[in-house]
Amino acid sequence: MEPRRIHKEMEPLSGSLRIGVLSAYPAEDWHAQRIAEAARRHGIVELLQPTDFGAEVAPTLCRVSVQGRPSERFDLFLTPRALGDSGDPDVQIELYRLLSESGARVVNEVQALLLAIDKLRTSVLLSRAGLPSPRVFVVQNLQEAEAVLAKLGRMVAKPLYGSLGRGVELVTQPQSLPRLIESQGALYLQEYLGEVRRDLRAFVIGGHVEAAIVRRPPPGEFRANLRFGALGDPTELDRAAAELAVRAVRILGLDYGGVDLVELDSGPQVIEVNGTPGFRGIYEATGRDMATPIVEHAISLISPKMRKTR
Ligand SMILES: Nc1ncnc2c1ncn2[C@@H]1O[C@H](COP(=O)(O)OP(=O)(O)OP(=O)(O)O)[C@@H](O)[C@H]1O
Ligand SMILES: [Mg+2]
Repeated sequence: MEPRRIHKEMEPLSGSLRIGVLSAYPAEDWHAQRIAEAARRHGIVELLQPTDFGAEVAPTLCRVSVQGRPSERFDLFLTPRALGDSGDPDVQIELYRLLSESGARVVNEVQALLLAIDKLRTSVLLSRAGLPSPRVFVVQNLQEAEAVLAKLGRMVAKPLYGSLGRGVELVTQPQSLPRLIESQGALYLQEYLGEVRRDLRAFVIGGHVEAAIVRRPPPGEFRANLRFGALGDPTELDRAAAELAVRAVRILGLDYGGVDLVELDSGPQVIEVNGTPGFRGIYEATGRDMATPIVEHAISLISPKMRKTR
């Protein structure tokens, strides 16, 4: 079902901004299209592909180009899906980094996106900041994986750089470990947080929770990802959960992010922080489109005049 259009107004309101929206797959990228549509209300929008970026370096010159022309013509870059299969993702990362170094406003910054993709690094940063999050072990051999399982009893194995619930697996038997070690090399093993829990997804933009849903996995499934049939309902977060979500996003340096939280009797815990969070599920559950506040927040970062009053 194609969600109804929230914003009919397509004409630029200010007309003065030029905004680049980065997507590796613009034709099929619902999120980039929503963000582009919201951005069009504030200026001229170009949908850009990662392969549109290049650089020129010479003595005293270091310039990032977009479609062969200087990147300075853009006031803002939004990065709903900044890496793709075409071109070279490592080079794309470096080019976005140079873009930020040259003073361009990039939302979310590639540096923050890289932290959020890396589950070990995310766990380390959450731990250093004292934010409650499940205990994690990273191992690279079978013996240690078995020892962790013996210690935890049940654990959740996740790809170190995965997303969308792919490869996330509840491990209760040592028999599953050889296959996991063989296919993944290194294992990121999280303490399993038990069945009595509420799974929450908080969408944080500009330092506050813009919307949240509670996700109920179908019977027999412990993962609350909507793509595995979980149902989402609007919810309000209590203060502890909201503060935790906001802090988790801030610690990674994200301007906006999706935070998976689990509510336990002892309080909320952060399961994961996503720097390119989907917002279709939130839209379908709450009717609220996150593209507009994402764009408004990004614009407030470049133009204090447009900062929203809350
Ligand atoms: N340690 C855990 N204990 C209990 N349930 C967990 C645990 N880790 C993950 N889950 C469940 O599995 C789901 C998927 O795990 P997680 O969010 O870490 O990975 P992901 O969804 O692949 O990543 P992304 O959200 O970036 O797509 C969680 O939303 C949660 O419902
Ligand atoms: Mg998740």
